[in-house]
Amino acid sequence: MKIDILTLFPEMFAPLEHSIVGKARDKGLLDIHYHNFRENAEKARHVDDEPYGGGQGMLLRAQPIFDTIDKIEKQQPRVILLDPAGRTFDQGYAEELAQEEELIFICGHYEGYDERIKTLVTDEISLGDYVLTGGELAAMTMIDATVRLIPEVIGKEASHTDDSFSSGLLEYPQYTRPYDYRGMQVPEVLMSGHHENIRKWRLYQSLKKTYERRPDLLENYDFTDESQKMLEQIKQKI
Ligand SMILES: C[S@@+](CC[C@H](N)C(=O)[O-])C[C@H]1O[C@@H](n2cnc3c(N)ncnc32)[C@H](O)[C@@H]1O
Repeated sequence: MKIDILTLFPEMFAPLEHSIVGKARDKGLLDIHYHNFRENAEKARHVDDEPYGGGQGMLLRAQPIFDTIDKIEKQQPRVILLDPAGRTFDQGYAEELAQEEELIFICGHYEGYDERIKTLVTDEISLGDYVLTGGELAAMTMIDATVRLIPEVIGKEASHTDDSFSSGLLEYPQYTRPYDYRGMQVPEVLMSGHHENIRKWRLYQSLKKTYERRPDLLENYDFTDESQKMLEQIKQKI
């Protein structure tokens, strides 16, 4: 996957040199390029200006962004504008992005953008219902969530198919050695070696956690007869 990032602060992206994303880059699975669009600003390197009609703050000008995008070598990229007014990022969206070969992220700053910049983009995306100082942290989060879904980036596919949200449910509780830690023991079923019972226990725990913490996720969950019956039992017990 090739990712181009338009930003005024390329140095903020240092975290993407480490951990799983860093390794994906080392393995040649991911190629990231930074473009400081200040370098393409015609007007004395000014990237921002006052809004027409008055109002607070400064807006990113269209020219540096248009010229920077023009210079990027590309085929048919998804062009993502980081914007609190956009569609909210989630696991399903990360899965969609992981299928793409080319992504371009445009990170805003200041009060916002000249609206005409939006004619360049395919997606306007928000990280959540809050306002950050710039798009960099949002872009990094989205890139991290997307890159770990690219085949070969994380060893076994199973390591993310059970993740919270990937299955439509929150992930079940997990334990590792030792069996007894400060008097807290691992549930017996996990020690049994009985794969079918372990599967059922995990499904039950996932359903219970999701029902308790994020019942909204169950509205879109693809229930089987088994999971529907389990949910009824959970509701009766709580
Ligand atoms: C201070 S914010 C501008 C907020 C804008 N005045 C508004 O009310 O929507 C500056 C930039 O940070 C980025 N940003 C802020 N919050 C964000 C969020 N929740 N998701 C994605 N990007 C965000 C966007 O690129 C935005 O243009």
